Amino acid sequence: MAKQPTQSVPLALGWQPLERTAAHGALREQATLWRTFPIRERLERDPQRVSALTWHVGDWYLDLSKQAWDSSVLHALLDLARTTALSPAIAALFAGEPVNLTERRAALHMAYRGSAQPPAAQRDRFVTEEERLAAFVAAYRIGALKGFSRAPLDTVVNIGIGGSDLGPRLVCDAFAHWGIARHGTVRFVANLDPSDFLTTTLDLDPARTLFLVTSKSFSTAETLSNARLARSWLARHFGVTPDDPRLNCHFVAVTNAVEKAEAHGFDSNQIFWLPEWVGGRYSLWSAVGLPIALAYGWKAFAALRAGAAEIDRHFQCAPLEANIPVILGLLSVWFATYLAQQQTALLPYAQGLQLLPAWYQQLEMESNGKRVRFDGSPAPYPTAMAVWGMAGTMGQHAFHQWFYQGTQPIAIEFVAFAPEPAAADDDPLLRARADAAAALAANAVAQAEALLLGRSEAEAFAQLRAQGWAEADARALAPFLAIPGNRPSSFLLATAQRPETLGQLLALYEHATFVRGWLWGVNPFDQFGVELGKQMARQLETESDAPHDPSTAQLLTWLKKAAR
Ligand code: F6P
Repeated sequence: MAKQPTQSVPLALGWQPLERTAAHGALREQATLWRTFPIRERLERDPQRVSALTWHVGDWYLDLSKQAWDSSVLHALLDLARTTALSPAIAALFAGEPVNLTERRAALHMAYRGSAQPPAAQRDRFVTEEERLAAFVAAYRIGALKGFSRAPLDTVVNIGIGGSDLGPRLVCDAFAHWGIARHGTVRFVANLDPSDFLTTTLDLDPARTLFLVTSKSFSTAETLSNARLARSWLARHFGVTPDDPRLNCHFVAVTNAVEKAEAHGFDSNQIFWLPEWVGGRYSLWSAVGLPIALAYGWKAFAALRAGAAEIDRHFQCAPLEANIPVILGLLSVWFATYLAQQQTALLPYAQGLQLLPAWYQQLEMESNGKRVRFDGSPAPYPTAMAVWGMAGTMGQHAFHQWFYQGTQPIAIEFVAFAPEPAAADDDPLLRARADAAAALAANAVAQAEALLLGRSEAEAFAQLRAQGWAEADARALAPFLAIPGNRPSSFLLATAQRPETLGQLLALYEHATFVRGWLWGVNPFDQFGVELGKQMARQLETESDAPHDPSTAQLLTWLKKAAR
């Protein structure tokens, strides 16, 4: 049946292009002032600045007072949010409206946190699947699941990519660093490069290994290739052929395309459903999070979800001016669209969050890296910024020089944790651990302050003279030591390292991405752009005589030569 055209939710709710709002003009005027980033002066002059630009939600404290803005900019951004119908959009998101307008779907990843209802027609299936998932996790963790040789399965290898990998991989890594008790082994394979699979499984016992083939579409080349490697790896170990159905007990599928998984030989009772109304990069809360629950237990997985649920409630209920995902989203719109910033550096001062930049890269750049708006018009302004980053303090020894003395200030986000104090009678290892954690947090705070304060040429000259440099030499060298300062940064500080803390953080980012997409007028839930690359790859692999541009043709010639 032809799809019925549905009135686009954004247009029905009153979304309008930014450039047509009164707030847009006010923000463009304010941008001329803030492009010189007079942050230090504002902090010195305005005693209310810190209290006006800091917030608190759950385990998180947010300090945006070192950012290149002030309350009047925030108020203009809030006007923008109101005139583009952001509050009705948030309500529509949680009500399961088809906010994913190009695919005419809801975006209800929040249902897995209990913050929204699944679509009525699939509510029973949703409940049944949750029960199946919990039962499967329980059976695995008591060793009741057996492999081909009847050995208990205690090793999980998730095979997936993008949203079917980055979220669970990040959470498992964080939980490992936060000392949350793990059952057995959990690993991740994502890349098409066979060395990813072969290296990751090198030290594993095939007899005890369970593969989770996680793919919403069940048509992603990388994942299907790695699933084939997995079957061959097991078959070689057991001396059977890869299509031997006795190997199926080593495989679980997590997918929306259940029939495809069955066609690939997966047992129906080991296929877990991923609804079409959960976007890949928003899916770690669903059955895609199975590696988390299998390795760290349903309780820790539920606590992660509970943390996100707290932010869901905040996002739905807090007034816009006190709504942290809204404020975070508006700040990025200010940076990208009005200050013409093109990059965000995300610096988690926690080794357990070393994968946070990679997860957030997909979340933000695949959601908002778009140009066509809800009404079909091209965006006449920059939309999503590039996201990159590295765990601190390693970035300090890699790219912070560029932050301090480079020619282009960018948006920098610090994420840090208040260290647990060492107990008086702690043994030397615990004391050393507490001291290192305290130094880590101090480094994060110090970096944000140093970026703000910089070092004037006169200060550099005075330091050189104090170190005994001759006046002429000190004067010649001082310019090279000068640091402009006034480099803007945001600071997110957590008071705990619990599953709930991480759930809160990830939900903050998810909802801020939704806010940005809405303001910019782009759909954060589709990803038509990446389809072209997949299609070209398929063509290259299957149609060797297809015509190519001269550069590609030459590359293919080299490839063929090398293959001989
Ligand atoms: O990058 C494109 C994409 O479709 C992502 O949105 C998705 O998370 C990833 O590929 C994997 O897709 P699937 O879960 O369907 O294998």
